[in-house]
Formats: sequence, C-alpha cells, structure tokens
Amino acid sequence: MKKTIDFIKDKIKITPEIGIVLGSGLGDFADSIEEKIEIPFTEIPDFPVSTVKGHDGKLIFGNINGKEVCIMKGRIHFYEGYDISDVVFPIKVIAELGVKTLIVTNAAGGVNTDFEPGDLMIITDHINLMGKNPLIGPNDESVGPRFLDMTNLYDRDLVELAEKAGKDLNVKTQKGVYMYFTGPSYETAAEVRMARILGADAAGMSTVPEVIIARHRGLKILGISTITNMGTGVLDKPLDHTEVVEVGKEVSGKFTDLLNKIIEDM
Ligand code: HPA
Repeated sequence: MKKTIDFIKDKIKITPEIGIVLGSGLGDFADSIEEKIEIPFTEIPDFPVSTVKGHDGKLIFGNINGKEVCIMKGRIHFYEGYDISDVVFPIKVIAELGVKTLIVTNAAGGVNTDFEPGDLMIITDHINLMGKNPLIGPNDESVGPRFLDMTNLYDRDLVELAEKAGKDLNVKTQKGVYMYFTGPSYETAAEVRMARILGADAAGMSTVPEVIIARHRGLKILGISTITNMGTGVLDKPLDHTEVVEVGKEVSGKFTDLLNKIIEDM
C-alpha cells in the first residue's frame, strides 16, 4: 500500500475530498473534470487491472465545481477472478489519499417493476448476496472496528441531497435497495423474483464490497445505479451486455448533469 500511495502522491498536488467510482458505460463523466491528472491503473504499483469492456482503468484527479476529486474510471469485479481483497484495494487507496466521501455508481438491472431502463436509482441500502465479505480476515483496529455497524450505510443526507439535485435539474430519480449478485451470468428470472420478494429494487454485480470497505474507513457513501435494463424475466427478452453499455451511454448526459450538481451541492 505504501508503494502505491507514494507513487500516486508523487504525481498529484491535491488532497482529494471526494472519490467517485464510475460504473459500466458511465466513464464519460470524467470528461467534465478540470485540471486533470490521469494515471492508468497499469502504471500504479500493486494496482489490479480490469479486463471488462467499457472499463478502461484510470485514476483521474482534478477539480469539479471547486472540489478536489479522485475518479476511478473502470473498476475491478469479483467475477473477473480477482480475490476480493483486490476488488477493494482501490477503495483502500482512495481512503488513504484522504477522501472523505465516496460516490459509487454502477449499472444495474431493474427488479422493481415501476422502474424503466434509463432510470437513475439513488441507493438507500444494499443486500449482500455474495456470501463473502471483504472484511473477513485479521482486522486492523487502527483502520476500523472488527464488527462494523451498517446503520445509515448510504448516508441519508446524501440521498436527500441527490434527490433534491434531481428535482432541481428536472432529472427523474428513483430510490431503492441494491442487491449484489457476483455474476458474471445474469440472474435467472426466479432470482429476480426472489430479489423483489426480499426487498430489492435493483440487481448488480459490483459496489457492495467497495461500500463495506469505505464504511470501514469511515467514509460517507452515496450510491447511484443506472438501470440499464429490466431484470431477467421482467420483460420477455434476453439480456445483452452491449445493451447495458449502450443504455449507460444514452443516460450519460443526465447522469453527468446529476453528478455535477450533487458535487456542487455537497
Ligand atoms: N443484473 C446484474 N447486473 C447488471 C444487470 C442485471 O440485470 N444489468 C447491468 N448490470
């Protein structure tokens, strides 16, 4: 970790206060950043490198609406075959760089039948169906507690702020619970029905391990899902990753506007 942090600190002159993880197809947001310094994951010592299409991996540092930010463009997924400790390594780095608030974004399937593809969902809570937890193993008490409290995990004030930002911009937002499946196969129709019965509104393959580590480091968390498709079985049509990326691109304008306004209002 020290090697990683020293390498990054040597390249940047700022202490970022906000970290942003950009999900599938949402990478265009990083274009709006000013005074940017880009560091490809491949250049950073010990940093895991993503293999997924639409996830060209870079850390981007700069300024958005007067706030110093660190953007992670492209993330590591458990389904790529990485150890869970690799999946969350970048979040540990972001926290170590001084970030106090983490905005995590992702593409997700709509489980709530009131949702439509293209909706933006502010995450109010999550269900970890992974059967694993990134905190398993020895705990460093100097970092965070062994038995981590998950109350108000997705910060209520930030949920409210994001909802208000949507209203101000006339961008429709939904709110709901994100359920994490490891993937990479999409859910079955029965799993989507189960998710709905258990109280989920969206299903996705990321975010949850990262959020657990961010909470362990004491960061405030805001999560936004782009509903790129309806979950399996909701519509009578097969799911296709190309479509997930396409819908991500289609919503990129309103997603960027919303994220910019949220950061401005923080
Ligand atoms: N399920 C899981 N992850 C996803 C989906 C989905 O339907 N769409 C985009 N990411």
